[in-house]
Amino acid sequence: MYTDRIKLSSLTDKIKDVTEVLDLFKDGMVVASSGFTKAGDSKVILPALAANNTSHPIKITLITGASLGHDTDAKLTEAGVLAKRMPFQVDKVLREAINKGEVLFVDQNLSETSEMLLDRHLPEIDIAIIEAAFITADGGIVPTTSVGNSPIFVDKAKKVIIEINMAVQPDVYGLHDVYLPEAYPNRKPIEILQPNDRIGSPVIPIDPDKIAAIVLSHQQDSPADITEIDDKTSAIAGHLIDFFTDEVRAGRLTKSLRPLQAGIGKVANAVLTGLAESDFEGLTMFSEVLQDSAFELIDAGKLTFASAASITVSAACYERVFDNLEKYKDKIVLRPQSISNAPEVIRRLGIIGINTAIEFDIYGNVNSSHISGTQMMNGIGGSGDFARNAHISIFVTQAASKENNISHVLPMVTHVDHNEHNVDVVVTDIGYADLRGLAPRERALKIINNCVHPDYKEELQSYFDRAVAEVGGQTPHLLDEAFLWHKRLKETGSMKALNK
Ligand code: COA
Repeated sequence: MYTDRIKLSSLTDKIKDVTEVLDLFKDGMVVASSGFTKAGDSKVILPALAANNTSHPIKITLITGASLGHDTDAKLTEAGVLAKRMPFQVDKVLREAINKGEVLFVDQNLSETSEMLLDRHLPEIDIAIIEAAFITADGGIVPTTSVGNSPIFVDKAKKVIIEINMAVQPDVYGLHDVYLPEAYPNRKPIEILQPNDRIGSPVIPIDPDKIAAIVLSHQQDSPADITEIDDKTSAIAGHLIDFFTDEVRAGRLTKSLRPLQAGIGKVANAVLTGLAESDFEGLTMFSEVLQDSAFELIDAGKLTFASAASITVSAACYERVFDNLEKYKDKIVLRPQSISNAPEVIRRLGIIGINTAIEFDIYGNVNSSHISGTQMMNGIGGSGDFARNAHISIFVTQAASKENNISHVLPMVTHVDHNEHNVDVVVTDIGYADLRGLAPRERALKIINNCVHPDYKEELQSYFDRAVAEVGGQTPHLLDEAFLWHKRLKETGSMKALNK
């Protein structure tokens, strides 16, 4: 019964059909929505806005936690609803519209949207749509599978519409730890000293007068796409585990490592799965997303606690977790992304950050967001929050892809998300390069020796040798040649020299 889901009885008369709330949305509005890596997103209102746009066309700015599920970004794009989108997306249709300049995209560090709303650096939110499992008797919103940016959206929006998702069981209550840092100049320390520390409330507080409507939904989150582990991803995982083993041997890490953050992408999942078969134990996570691999590690007895902003898992894993929630509840917590990704906490806990690069260069600068320097892939996501502040910041990628026509290790990256100062270790399927304490010229030699695909090694070494001999400097480069491989890729479909 939906009335069981609205424990503050004065709110029951706010229940509306989705068609009744669409009139609240006007052209030019700033709309915020819950949803982080497909989890806990709006299942009915945002898709209905897209469907309604033929008869009542509007354009809005849409701010979320991170990506949305159920192809909602595609539907909104195709219907022409989006004028501006932030702070992250992973949708093919939206990506294309962004790259054509049809939708403006603000690609943001995921910890920062909440801060910018708190400090009024962004326009005011007209309407926030928040998915909830239920509303408590004192009017608290119980989030579902993510917290994301929902607390700040609720706090700052002029009006809030709640989507109560009947497909999410109410026993998610207690999974969340909602805490919003104070605005400046009254900011206090975020007192998380261990990944399992709870510092906030299980609900998002709201003034009931702000609730413009309550709508019901009945759909689960979109399942995560799981890419099977292949030779390359398992080789990368193997090298990373070798690096950890070497760190333990050197006495810098113990078998429980440090709290782990693992980014999105097929490699990160493979790395965590690799840990399940390793000697490491007593592991913890302080991350953004809990993927299938996190629950595999919990089930294997390797992972004792995991903190994140969302749970984004395959359909089978979703069933396993939510049918047995009591088993997992004392081992996981979901936090707002301003806390899961808080630089202060990442630094204090000494996180090992593992993120994926699209490409990196001989000095260890990393591009995580742009194809060939201009075309947006997904966005920086939380990788910058973690890379800048991690105890050890690691980037992984395949050495080469597309039948080795693309090298992911280059003379110079075409876009920089993470500069050499924030990158400690790079790993490919060829090997790993530990760059800590190395000057640029040393970094280049290590990367060329350890990480490059054999088809590109000789040319990369030649580039570096000639840059040193002909130009020199702290960071030797041949500026006329730095992007030659990308030029070749565009002209011939391969980064390789024609005679290769
Ligand atoms: N030209 C054309 N294509 C290129 C290219 C280039 N110069 N460089 C890379 N690519 C292609 C690859 O060939 C690959 O294509 P494919 O999917 O057809 O094989 C694609 O770009 C990269 O995707 P993939 O190898 O499948 O990577 P992934 O699923 O592991 O994701 C990122 C990698 C970097 C896109 C992803 O991790 C990301 O968006 N990161 C940024 C956000 C983030 O790190 N968040 C972390 C905190 S949760």
